[in-house]
Parts: sequence; C-alpha cells; structure tokens
Amino acid sequence: MKSDKAQMSEKGAIGKTLAAERALDFVKDGMIVGLGTGSTAEIFVRKLAERVKAEGFEVHCVPTSQKTAALARALGLKVIEIEENTEIDITVDGADEVSPELNLIKGMGGALLWEKIVAKMSRKECIVVDASKVVNVLGERTPVPVEVVPYGWRKTRQIVETKFGCRADLRKRGEEVFRTDSGNYILDCKFGRIEKPELLEREIKATTGIVESGLFCGIATTVIVGDENGETREMERQKPT
Ligand code: A5P
Repeated sequence: MKSDKAQMSEKGAIGKTLAAERALDFVKDGMIVGLGTGSTAEIFVRKLAERVKAEGFEVHCVPTSQKTAALARALGLKVIEIEENTEIDITVDGADEVSPELNLIKGMGGALLWEKIVAKMSRKECIVVDASKVVNVLGERTPVPVEVVPYGWRKTRQIVETKFGCRADLRKRGEEVFRTDSGNYILDCKFGRIEKPELLEREIKATTGIVESGLFCGIATTVIVGDENGETREMERQKPT
C-alpha cells in the first residue's frame, strides 16, 4: 500500500509529464527555446531532446540555470549565450504557484533571477504545472523566494521582515547557506495570502540589497495544467508589446 505522499507525487508526476508534452507542440524547427529549471522543466528538456533527435530538427536553447545548461548539453541540445540580438521564441518553465490571473510564485529551485531574465525576453512564456500548483490566491501555501546580495544580508532580512510583515528564512542546503547561480542568497518570505501581488513585486524589488523576487506578475503568456486523469487545460494571456 503506497503512502498518501507517494500517491500525491505519482499524481503530480503524471500531470507534470502531460503538461510538458503539450508544451512540446509549441516548439518548431529553428526556434530559440528558453529552458526552465525544476522537475517539470526537466521533463520538458528531456522530451525536447528526444524530439530533436527523432525529427532531426534544430533548436538553440537558452537555459535558466547551470543545472539545466548541464542537462541540455548532456542530452545533445545546442546551448547558446544571451547576446544583444537574442530573441527567444518560447520559454517553457515550471512554477510553484499559479493564480487565476496567471501570476506566479517561482524559485523554489533557486533559479528565479535567471528565470525572470529569460522569461522577460521571451515572446511566449509557457508555464507547465501539475494541478496541485493552481491556487486561488498566491502565497497561500508557498513562501516567496527573494534573492539578496550576501553583503549585509542580515540587515536586508530585518528590513524585509519589518517593511512587509513577513517571516524571512535564509535558505540553506544542509548546513551550508544556499547560493544561487549568481552567488546570492535566498530569503524564503512567508507572506500568507498576497492580495496585491503586482504591488508587492514592485515594492520588494525597490528594496536595497534585494536583487529579485520569485513573484512573476504579468509575465506568463500560457499556463498548461496537467492532471492525474490524463487531461490538460490551457490558460492564455496576450503579452503586451
Ligand atoms: C526553479 O527555480 C523554480 O522556479 C521552478 O520552476 C519551480 O520551483 C517549479 O519546480 P517543479 O517543477 O520542480 O515543481
């Protein structure tokens, strides 16, 4: 008999795989494709590599983390650097929470800064999630990861906690402080229900010592939700030009 947790993660895996497979339909020969970070994005990267091999078409990939870059290269995908003239056709990435307005919390995998840079330069930002990630109001379950410069981080944390009335925990990996690919720290900020995510995203970003937050408002153009019954549904928003 499987535990509840094992059953939940199995259901999640089915949904993630379905969503990642559906996203693959949007990728065409010759595209520049942004590759997200996390378990759902990893499924997409693996499937993309299979398709590129099977169909012999060519894509150039922009990864959102060192981990994804290493995976993509190992699978034989062509990885490129971001240049002044780089235009990403589509990025496929995961999320930790998705609201009905298509606002997101991202960054539990620690790649929020690179993910936001790549997302903002993508024509289509396609988010792939299993049904457990869809919430009514952001922040209900997940803390918002906030990337901070290590210099003076204790003071930055105190300012964040006082200014926003949240608890901000320094992220660790075992005994070590977690470092992002840019060498920064992450404060996981528990806000509870976030009624005005756009405002909060702006105010967090305006705080000295903070590099970026995992609130992604108005960035996702498509969200694909896969569920354990074998179905996917899509939510769309036109990205302002
Ligand atoms: C990585 O930094 C994150 O933004 C991920 O996209 C997010 O945590 C979702 O990850 P999973 O697909 O593993 O749930």
